[in-house]
This record gives sequence, C-alpha cells and structure tokens, in this order.
Amino acid sequence: MEEFILTHTMKAALITHYKQAFPSIEQVVIPKIGATDVLVKVVAASINPIDLKTKDGGLKMLLKYNMPLVLGSDFAGIITQVGEKVTAFNVGDPVYGRVQKNRIGTFAEYIAVDHNDIARKPRNLSFEEAAAIPLVGLTSYQALHDIMKIKPGQKVLIQAGSGGIGTIAIQIAKMLGAYVTTTTSAKNFALVKSLGADQVIDYKTEKFQDKLSDYDYVFDTQGGKILEDAFKIIKPGGKVVSISGLPNARFAKEYQLPLWKKLIFALITSRLSALEKAAKAEYIFLFMKPSGAELEILRTAIEANKIKPVIDRVLPFAAIEEAFRYSKSGRAKGKIILKINEIAE
Ligand SMILES: NC(=O)c1ccc[n+]([C@@H]2O[C@H](COP(=O)([O-])OP(=O)(O)OC[C@H]3O[C@@H](n4cnc5c(N)ncnc54)[C@H](OP(=O)(O)O)[C@@H]3O)[C@@H](O)[C@H]2O)c1
Repeated sequence: MEEFILTHTMKAALITHYKQAFPSIEQVVIPKIGATDVLVKVVAASINPIDLKTKDGGLKMLLKYNMPLVLGSDFAGIITQVGEKVTAFNVGDPVYGRVQKNRIGTFAEYIAVDHNDIARKPRNLSFEEAAAIPLVGLTSYQALHDIMKIKPGQKVLIQAGSGGIGTIAIQIAKMLGAYVTTTTSAKNFALVKSLGADQVIDYKTEKFQDKLSDYDYVFDTQGGKILEDAFKIIKPGGKVVSISGLPNARFAKEYQLPLWKKLIFALITSRLSALEKAAKAEYIFLFMKPSGAELEILRTAIEANKIKPVIDRVLPFAAIEEAFRYSKSGRAKGKIILKINEIAE
C-alpha cells in the first residue's frame, strides 16, 4: 500500500509569506483529488523563474494565492490515484504536466492535477528529463506555433537561446522550419548551435538591432529595453511575442481581467503600443496555459527525436535553496531539475 494512505502527509517546499528568502521543506497534508483529477507521485520537478517571482509576490496583479503556499509548476511522475471521472489514465501511468496556475505545488511528494493538464511521459526520456519539458515546452509551442504560426523559411529571433525557454524554443522553431537567430554569451555558442540555431549573436559584445532587420517574429524572453529594441528589426505585419514584457490591454481583454486592470495595463504599455504602431507590427504578451493536448504533441516530437530537453543540473529535493539561488543567478544553461522521489526506472 502507498505510504500516503498510511500517513496522509508528505514533504513539500512552501512559503508562509511573500519575499521569504527560500521555501522551506515541511510536512503537509497530501492533496485530495477531485472527480477529474489524478494524484501523481512526483519523481522530478523543474525550477522555473515563475517560482521565484511567485515567491516574491511578483505576480499579484495576475494571481492570488493563500498561504502557506507550496511552490512548483511542472513535474514528471507516476499516477497513484485517479478520480472517478478519469478514463484516459490509470494508476501506474508515467506522466508529465504543468498544473493550473491556481493549483501549483509540484515541489512536493504528491500533486493533484486535472487529467486534462497532463500527458504520458515521453518513452525515451527519464523522469528528470521529462520534468524539464512542460512549462518551457508549452510556452515555446504556444508562442511559436499557436501565436506566430511560423511557416518554413520565416525568420525568428529567440532571445536568450541558452536558457530554459531558449533551449527548447530553438528546437521547436527549427521543427516548424524557421530560420533561427538567437542571443546568448560566447560561452554558450556551441550549445545553441548544437540545438539548430542558424545565427548567434553575443549579447555582451554586439547589439542584435544593429545586425538584424526584416524579421517576421521576435520571441522576447527579457522585457524592458531589449523588448523595445525588437521593434527595430521587425517587418511590417510581424509579431513581437513577449513572455517577460508588460501585459497590455489586449491581454487583459483575453484574460477577462476587470476594466481597471485593463486601463492600468493600457497605461503602462503606452510606449510599447506606440512602438508597435510605428513598426506596423503586433505586440503580444503571452502568459502560457497548461495543456495536456499540447504536451501530447510535444511527446510525439520528443519520441521522434525532433526535440530533446537540455538539463543544466539535477539537484536533490533537500537542495531546493541551492536550486533557487542558481536560478536567480540567471546563468542556467537549460533547466534546473529537483529530484523529489526516488523510484526504480
Ligand atoms: N509569460 C510566461 O508564460 C512565461 C513562461 C515561461 C517563462 N517566462 C519568463 O521568461 C524568462 C526566461 O525564462 P527562462 O526559463 O528561459 O530563464 P533562465 O533559464 O533563467 O535563463 C537563463 C539564460 O538567459 C541567458 N541570458 C540572460 N540575460 C540575457 C540577455 N540579456 N540576452 C541573452 N541571453 C541572456 C543566460 O545566458 P548567459 O549566461 O550567457 O547570460 C542564461 O543561459 C523569465 O523571465 C521567465 O519568468 C514567462
């Protein structure tokens, strides 16, 4: 019998207040599942910058959380319980997923997740490798495929090709047939070229806006001045999709936010609105969404060896402080993985 049935508690990394220096590992109650949920024994979970932003209260305009809050957005693990309405998955299935933003908590021994937000783990990946995919894979797929709708031969600039997002985004853009330019520092050139980048710009010594022009798309992962400079290289009719810039009024409408938030977003993005008008391009802020169906598409691409995870390091759950510190350094090459439960693979 599973230990959760005996103890009802598990280890989880949580915060009790925003801006807590690091999450602490405590004993908490194992989450209960609803009719359409599954309970997953988490084998590995990845660190994403959103975990640090959530810890520091940086997403308060978009998401409200109660304390204590178990952090963690994506995972790979094994199903230990299925809700009464779940027919697509069984106990024992190896799965991976990105939980809904109001149900985070994958830095824990178990996570309850809606079965629509998971897919079977790619057969050719270990649990650590599979945990590297969901959040960054879905974000990149939604930017490059769903929003940009990249066609073969189109040109895309992917900022920070060596990061968690960049390493997967380069591969998805190449899979869609794009000509891919990326930025990183010289020490990561070999890595991004090995992932398929056609052109690499050292952001420490060169300005991408001086070297590039007539781009169909920019996938911005940096925000600020770097995002503003994207409008200097975009074609009329092109799209600048940012995951780190400011959400605009269009986003507020799509996200069905109240009018006052829409007005605030319109105000804070007035400069970006002027830039998109002048460039005759479109600015889109993307806040990625969980999707089991898209993870299934990524699984197929991974099993066909079109995409592979890039892992910087795997750390034990107890080293979560070190993992957060390293993520905050901004120097990760691919993903940082936490090993949560040991299982025989
Ligand atoms: N809106 C959404 O739905 C969403 C989803 C996912 C991620 N995000 C956001 O996207 C951002 C990127 O996430 P990530 O997981 O890729 O972060 P990450 O893995 O921490 O990125 C680290 C990488 O960024 C590179 N880098 C740092 N500054 C750079 C610059 N100015 N130009 C080019 N490369 C630079 C570093 O290379 P060097 O060591 O060479 O500097 C390093 O390899 C984060 O802010 C995250 O919160 C948003």
